[in-house]
Amino acid sequence: MSNVRTLLIVKPDAVERHLIGEIIHRLERARFRVVDMKMVHLTYDQARKFYAVHEGRPFLDELCKFMSGGPIVPMIVESDGDTISGIRALIGATDPAKAAPGTVRHDLAVSLTKNSVHASDGEATAKTEIAFFFS
Ligand code: CMP
Repeated sequence: MSNVRTLLIVKPDAVERHLIGEIIHRLERARFRVVDMKMVHLTYDQARKFYAVHEGRPFLDELCKFMSGGPIVPMIVESDGDTISGIRALIGATDPAKAAPGTVRHDLAVSLTKNSVHASDGEATAKTEIAFFFS
């Protein structure tokens, strides 16, 4: 078993469209394990803190309004393989218009902001992002 875990978030657009189960089903079908999860409703300031790496980017305000606009479902995911790159392959490119068919974002997402899921982009980020939601 790989001991590298990553954070995946089901974003408000997917929660609102009843896609939590669909997204977890895709993870489990691909042999990922959900080891912890919860539903939270971030404040705008908490969203800014979570996305602090994007400080100064033009899309940050819209992103944080969206991420604090409804409940989200952060979860810790692990697998027997390379969890971080495996999850990123499963969810597809950030922009759903560029995501490959069969990926979560291609099949389910609405737009670049409402792209249904977030996943950590590396081991260090995964540790920080997991700690943000799961103390
Ligand atoms: P996510 O994986 O949550 O990481 C940052 C988010 O910013 C990204 O998904 C998108 O939803 C959002 N975003 C909006 N515009 C852009 C952009 N131009 N480049 C990257 N991310 C963007």
